[in-house]
Amino acid sequence: METRPGTRPGILVRRFHTILRKRFGDYSRGVIVRAPGRVNLIGDHTDYNDGFVLPATIDRDVYVGVVEREDNRVQIYSLNFRDEIEYELGRQRGAPVSSWESYLTGAVEELRSRDLLPGGFGMLVYGNVPLGAGLSSSAALEVAAVYGLQSLFGFELPPVEAIRLSQQVEHRYVGVQCGIMDQFASYMGRRGHALFLDCRTLEHEHVPLPLSEAGLAIAIVDSRVARELARSKYSERLLECDRVVQTLQKVEPSVTALRDVSSAMLQEHRSLLEETLQRRARHVVDENQRVQRARDALLSGSYELFGRLMNESHESLRTLYEVSISELDHLVEAAQNSPGVLGARMTGGGFGGCTVNLVRRNAVAEFERHVMTTYAAEFGREPHVYILRQNHQMELLHSEP
Ligand code: GLA
Repeated sequence: METRPGTRPGILVRRFHTILRKRFGDYSRGVIVRAPGRVNLIGDHTDYNDGFVLPATIDRDVYVGVVEREDNRVQIYSLNFRDEIEYELGRQRGAPVSSWESYLTGAVEELRSRDLLPGGFGMLVYGNVPLGAGLSSSAALEVAAVYGLQSLFGFELPPVEAIRLSQQVEHRYVGVQCGIMDQFASYMGRRGHALFLDCRTLEHEHVPLPLSEAGLAIAIVDSRVARELARSKYSERLLECDRVVQTLQKVEPSVTALRDVSSAMLQEHRSLLEETLQRRARHVVDENQRVQRARDALLSGSYELFGRLMNESHESLRTLYEVSISELDHLVEAAQNSPGVLGARMTGGGFGGCTVNLVRRNAVAEFERHVMTTYAAEFGREPHVYILRQNHQMELLHSEP
């Protein structure tokens, strides 16, 4: 089943119905939901430091259809992988065989262990969020599964708990100690808005992102470099941040996360930290400042300033936090040299994946041509370019009866 971002949900819902019936037979109760992927506009490697982030949902989603079953069996079919798993609810499954499995069985197990699932179900899953590109296809999958099951069975689960539960799936079943940004963005992000999130208090604000009124587009460019180092380097950065906190805590007891460290404090206690750790901390401290300034810039329509902050963020991720790679640097530089580009940066965890670019609408075609040709000339393959004009939000598309 191929869908493009423009595909009308109505068409998709009909297709989903046909496939649900074919796979799971006639059912009396069923729902179809979708949850979007996200692109982080600014604020990377700040979420697990209790800091600030500013992601926006994209126009690519994971669709989940769920139908009730009479028995206790769980049957999940992935349309992307043409692969099915089936098991008895609550029975421990062995190590996952397919890459997509643990996100879903993990979410099911987390819900079951909270006594929220009254019985078995059939689930159909399809996504058009590019896989492995750092656009949170996995968070969208977890969130869509949780929301789908919640919509079908009608159990109480406040949004923040649903989000935390989805994050737990990554920690416990996938083995990635990620922050809360991706699941939060997918679940809470709103159409036409970016999401400003304080990852400590989880206070958040939907900041209008009036792209068409402002004559702007967000261009996401996928380097198509698989993020092989991403996991190990991600844990390495987590540990480094932790070491900074441990050290600074001895002289500043109020510090429980890098969020609590100010620029002046870092400067004062510099000598306590080895050089690499100073740079890691400097990135997080500055990036938190940038996210707050970027939020203000969006609110006041200062898009040039927003773009400059994006550029600064990339420079910091490249030189201080060291999570970029030459392909991403090349894409960012090419974008920054292209007319009508207000800002460009790598987005997400790094070590592959995408860049995010704020581009004037009338310059999008030229931008696309420019980054495609210069990247292909340097690396021998073309990047994928996605132009985001109108983002999505999580929604219940259909419920029956
Ligand atoms: C990954 C993680 C997020 C966040 C980013 C970096 O996407 O899943 O929690 O830490 O990296 O900002």
